[in-house]
Amino acid sequence: MTDGIGSPERTPEIVDLVGKPINEIKGEIIHKGKAKLVYRTTEESVMLMEFMDDATAFDGKKKGSISSKGMYNSHISAAIMRYLNQCGINTHFLEQMEDRFQLVRPLDMLPVEVVIRNLAAGSLARRLGFDEGDSLERPILEFYFKSDELGDPWLNRYHIRALDLCSDDEIVRLEEDSWRINAMLREYFLDRDLELIDFKLEYGRAADGALVLGDEITPDTCRLWDISSRDKLDKDRFRHDMGEVEEAYQEVYRRVAWED
Ligand SMILES: Nc1ncnc2c1ncn2[C@@H]1O[C@H](COP(=O)(O)OP(=O)(O)OP(=O)(O)O)[C@@H](O)[C@H]1O
Ligand SMILES: [Mg+2]
Repeated sequence: MTDGIGSPERTPEIVDLVGKPINEIKGEIIHKGKAKLVYRTTEESVMLMEFMDDATAFDGKKKGSISSKGMYNSHISAAIMRYLNQCGINTHFLEQMEDRFQLVRPLDMLPVEVVIRNLAAGSLARRLGFDEGDSLERPILEFYFKSDELGDPWLNRYHIRALDLCSDDEIVRLEEDSWRINAMLREYFLDRDLELIDFKLEYGRAADGALVLGDEITPDTCRLWDISSRDKLDKDRFRHDMGEVEEAYQEVYRRVAWED
């Protein structure tokens, strides 16, 4: 996915959709996720994603809502995907629409999530006995099986092959691309006085079989700490009832999407 220009082509169909009101292009719902709704559009090669205020944690056991999260997340993810497209990473992102919608390329999503951890936090800290925020000798890349029924269990390459979730070549690609994205994102966030503690990526196959980065990159999917105060500016504030949840999303939005 990293050869060629990352930015998807702005075909006449996309230009046409961008000029229309959401209600005219919104087709049937294809997928109701916990944080986003995915719709068909009048174009087969374009999907509409709606970012919602709904928030869940601990495998959906904790449910709630974060005021304006959909709007903040849609703009944050759009800004980051644009940046990655410019850096030559193929992403599904096409256009931001109104405040909480995006046009994206439909992908056949891999049931595998890639997590990169630059510092210890969350389940890694619990599982291996680190303190939250401990530094690591080297960053860690992990795979998880996207399965709500099984509680998104941890996987290694052998599990992925045994379950035939993707090919050996695709595993290599996922790892290489995710490391490149980590380097790009760390620098991007550092420029905005944010430390990227860890994050999750989802990839899918495009119509031609190429692996493309999908889903979202937001404070729902990244741990982001203020570089000097080390304040948490991500979903951990919701997970652990830390207060000032909306303010955290708004602050990341301010630092990331401001220039858009
Ligand atoms: N470009 C894309 N094409 C097809 N599906 C996508 C694309 N980008 C993201 N998705 C999928 O759309 C859904 C987004 O919804 P959301 O993030 O709310 O789901 P989730 O609750 O996290 O997970 P899920 O509902 O899949 O268990 C996810 O299943 C994600 O894998
Ligand atoms: Mg999701």
